[in-house]
Amino acid sequence: MKHLITLENMSVEWWERLYKRCRDIIANPSDYAHEMDGRVMASLFYEPSSRTSFSFQAAMMRLGGKVMGFSDPNTSSAAKGETLADTIRVFTTFSDVAVIRASVAGTAEEVARWSHCPIINAGDGGHTHPTQTLADLTTISMYRGKIGGIHIGLCGDLRNGRTVHSLIHALSKFPDIKFTMISPAGLALPSESETYLRSRGIEYGISESLEDVLPELDILYMTRVQKERFADRAEFERYKGVYLLTKDKLALARKDALIMHPLPRADEISPDVDSDPRAVYFDQVFYGMYIRMSLLIELLTPEF
Ligand code: CP
Repeated sequence: MKHLITLENMSVEWWERLYKRCRDIIANPSDYAHEMDGRVMASLFYEPSSRTSFSFQAAMMRLGGKVMGFSDPNTSSAAKGETLADTIRVFTTFSDVAVIRASVAGTAEEVARWSHCPIINAGDGGHTHPTQTLADLTTISMYRGKIGGIHIGLCGDLRNGRTVHSLIHALSKFPDIKFTMISPAGLALPSESETYLRSRGIEYGISESLEDVLPELDILYMTRVQKERFADRAEFERYKGVYLLTKDKLALARKDALIMHPLPRADEISPDVDSDPRAVYFDQVFYGMYIRMSLLIELLTPEF
């Protein structure tokens, strides 16, 4: 059974097949309108979501499939004390694929053991978020024509930002990638991610200043300080608003730079940046649905 739990072992060939199909779906949506006829997707969200949850639902429905599940586990028998293992056994009995988001790192990997169908990790705590990364890779590919040969700045809460951890896994597979980690020391990248980069011989720098590095970047990937991951409210308040990209600051960036953000944003990109052609964060939302369509086909079609 094929699951999508992490991109740590993603191959470039797998990515290229997914991306090629994604482009074809965008160009010829009617060719794919019945691809998932008769299939059911379980959408199991233990944490709030707008993009991931609804883009997966839209993806399945645009392919002709149907969706069931919950966005609040308290509407399921979890509220009566049913275990996660039993919940997964039940929902995956009814469905052909299950998309799960949870607040605990490693949940998707754990539930795959009990599942009767493919599991897709829609975010596991502060750990990883592979399908956001697929949306990010699609956006980069659409704008730049390829993924290699970039200097990307990852800015904000690198400690808790699961989209950053997955993006590092995926980008490390492509040639000539340079990272600069932009964060206060207290929100620095976890040591596992640094170890991963070093093990692959990937070049990365560290800076606390966005302004210092912005002129050198091909891509600036902004992230939100992840309020929900802080046990200590005072610590969150200390970091909140630590970086703010404004239209004035954007003047420092290259003319062909891309400004990305997995969204939702809190206060790290001011609305006056939105109309700049370099701001592509709503394109990430658009491409996210199509690459998820491609992923559903990949996981549910026996020959792939
Ligand atoms: N980018 C992302 O995961 O957004 P949601 O939390 O709205 O799904």
